[in-house]
Amino acid sequence: MFTLSKLAIAVAAASMIVACGKKEEAAPAPAPATSPVAVPAESTVEVLHWWTAGGEAKSVAELKRIMQEKGHAWKDFAVAGGGGDNAMTVLKSRVVAGNPPAAAQIKGPAIQEWAAEGVLANLDETAKAESWDTLLPAVVADVMKYNGNYVAVPVNVHRVNWMWANAAVLKKAGVASAPKTWDEFFAAAEKVKKAGLIPVAHGGQNWQDFTTFESVALGVGGTDFYKEAFIKLDQKALTSATMTKALETFRKVKSYTDAAAPGRDWNLATAMVIQEKAAFQFMGDWAKGEFTAAGKAPGKDYICAAAPGTANAFTFNVDSFAMFKLKDATAQKAQGDLAAAIMGTEFQEVFNLNKGSIPVRLNMDMTKFDDCAKLSSEDFVATASTGGLVPSIAHEMAVPPAVSGAMKDAVSQFWNNDKMSVADGVLSIAKAAATR
Ligand code: GAL
Repeated sequence: MFTLSKLAIAVAAASMIVACGKKEEAAPAPAPATSPVAVPAESTVEVLHWWTAGGEAKSVAELKRIMQEKGHAWKDFAVAGGGGDNAMTVLKSRVVAGNPPAAAQIKGPAIQEWAAEGVLANLDETAKAESWDTLLPAVVADVMKYNGNYVAVPVNVHRVNWMWANAAVLKKAGVASAPKTWDEFFAAAEKVKKAGLIPVAHGGQNWQDFTTFESVALGVGGTDFYKEAFIKLDQKALTSATMTKALETFRKVKSYTDAAAPGRDWNLATAMVIQEKAAFQFMGDWAKGEFTAAGKAPGKDYICAAAPGTANAFTFNVDSFAMFKLKDATAQKAQGDLAAAIMGTEFQEVFNLNKGSIPVRLNMDMTKFDDCAKLSSEDFVATASTGGLVPSIAHEMAVPPAVSGAMKDAVSQFWNNDKMSVADGVLSIAKAAATR
């Protein structure tokens, strides 16, 4: 649990991030904070997010457009860094300084923590007027509420347990179809290697290591194991033989990545698959936003398949915006308009077409969506009734940020240190899971 006093500690770190300001490569410049018409300052919405890669930036530009059409000015507060760690540090410094943005991309259990600080606005008026309770899956609505009141609005549903593959690379390597089990996967990876190409495009950043690990563990252990280990944080599961197998498999995946992986941004790893340099990437379906932005077609240029062993499961990652308490009535009205726009059908369609995710709003027309999105949509519904629908721990959906942060570091240390034994890796991740 964080507190506002603890937040102050983040200020120094935040100023370093702002000063070092590393932008994801190949990302377009953030949209200028201007509006075509003169708009009073109170009617400007400042929105913090970390969507700076190609497909992400296109997606958020649609929200800006919709808000401008409603007569509001958009102040873009983009903090680069996939997974959002940088954005969260910068956000904390702004809140500590008493100057929060109107809205910020905050998700999962962190919403509860921010609400407990008393800094979030109550969105019930908009939620009632727009019937959010009937438009959202209950599992999502619950996460957006604090003490029964809406304090955040969901944008989409990302599926994390995807494996992306370049069709031409597979063909060149003699791999007939996307591997369904880890044994099949390693056989395919060998063939790609022999063909002189990189089997796995990986970005060596701790959140990306954790993203791959989560899918490997799910594939090796199944959803029951995943729930015990990553939702209940059960020490027996975390130190089980299944966990050992998961870490062995994870290390084997690393042996198929290239030497330049450390530090690489996720969208550059996706670009390696797009450009036929690499065969596979394990990444959530924001990667599809990159394929789409590059004009690639699913089923033809690239394949979307569940990570080996995970076809009956769905690790969900719901992006959402929490709104901060603002005093001015015009500013509050702008916030309400933003919240209503996000849940509106126009935004839900166009944003998710670009982003690679599926609409979070129920009963949306999926005609314009591609086969990957349709599969995601069907699997979301199917796994919700079979028990295969699980929150992504790597994307802050499953446990409080302090716990997932410690586990993320432990997973990354194991990934980066080939000399660490699997047994030590298991113990260090289990220890991190006990963080309170
Ligand atoms: C996730 C986020 C996605 C995507 C990704 C990479 O945490 O939910 O929307 O932006 O990070 O930046």
